[in-house]
Amino acid sequence: MPLLSMLVLLAVTQAPTPPTTTAGSAGHPFDDVARVLMHPRCMNCHPAGDRPLQKDTQIFHKQNVSRRIDQLGHACTTCHPAKAVPGANLPPGAPHWHMPSARTPMVFEKRTPQQLCEQLKDPATNGNRTLAQLRTHMAEDSIVKWGFSPGEGRTVPPLTHDEFIQRVDAWLAAGAPCPQSPPATAPTTTTPPPASK
Ligand code: HEC
Ligand code: HEC
Repeated sequence: MPLLSMLVLLAVTQAPTPPTTTAGSAGHPFDDVARVLMHPRCMNCHPAGDRPLQKDTQIFHKQNVSRRIDQLGHACTTCHPAKAVPGANLPPGAPHWHMPSARTPMVFEKRTPQQLCEQLKDPATNGNRTLAQLRTHMAEDSIVKWGFSPGEGRTVPPLTHDEFIQRVDAWLAAGAPCPQSPPATAPTTTTPPPASK
């Protein structure tokens, strides 16, 4: 290969990759937080319905498991130990494995980033937490931490746990703003239709 084209090739292949995860990169401060919350490791226990989801394909949990049976007591922990036994397709584990209650379901599925953000901040929907308590939950809860080291054969969210908390802190420091979703419909016109003859 001629030297010049090799140099061109080198220059191309060594072009710096854009810093996709750098704090302050273009975008809204809530974007990276939402990307983690919407990952299957988190969304699978925060579904729109009563049944938890499984795997990255987010099929309904087998054995007809639902948040309603959890209300009867130890329904999840009969299979989900405090610490998972290593091995593919075995139940993942963390202390007190359970789902949000039917009364405060904390749904992450089928939410726009704006809806997700607003419900996270609202004590009526977030388990009566202040923003500081919300941060503590995301920084210290054993189930949240499980999501970042979920065991054999499971993918992890797009950020490490440390990076996630950095983004949460940056979002809180900015005043916890929520992204504005574009209006669902075009503005309605008030002009009456032309009178027909
Ligand atoms: C009969 C045993 C059993 C019961 C009861 C059970 N699970 Fe599971 N669960 C499993 C097994 C096994 C897997 C692993 C499936 C796999 O990865 O192939 C699993 C996986 C999961 C996952 C998927 C993790 C992921 O991100 O892929 C979630 C979420 C989950 N269970 C939540 C719950 C909740 C919440 C309850 C109680 C309401 C519960 N499970 C009750 C056996 C059970
Ligand atoms: C095994 C099921 C399970 C998984 C998996 C799970 N959560 Fe949760 N999550 C819960 C439960 C249960 C609660 C309610 C706890 C409470 O209020 O005491 C909760 C509450 C929350 C809350 C509190 C506020 C709110 O409005 O939702 C946040 C934030 C949260 N989870 C984030 C995450 C993140 C981030 C992940 C993934 C890294 C995750 N969860 C994965 C079960 C789960």
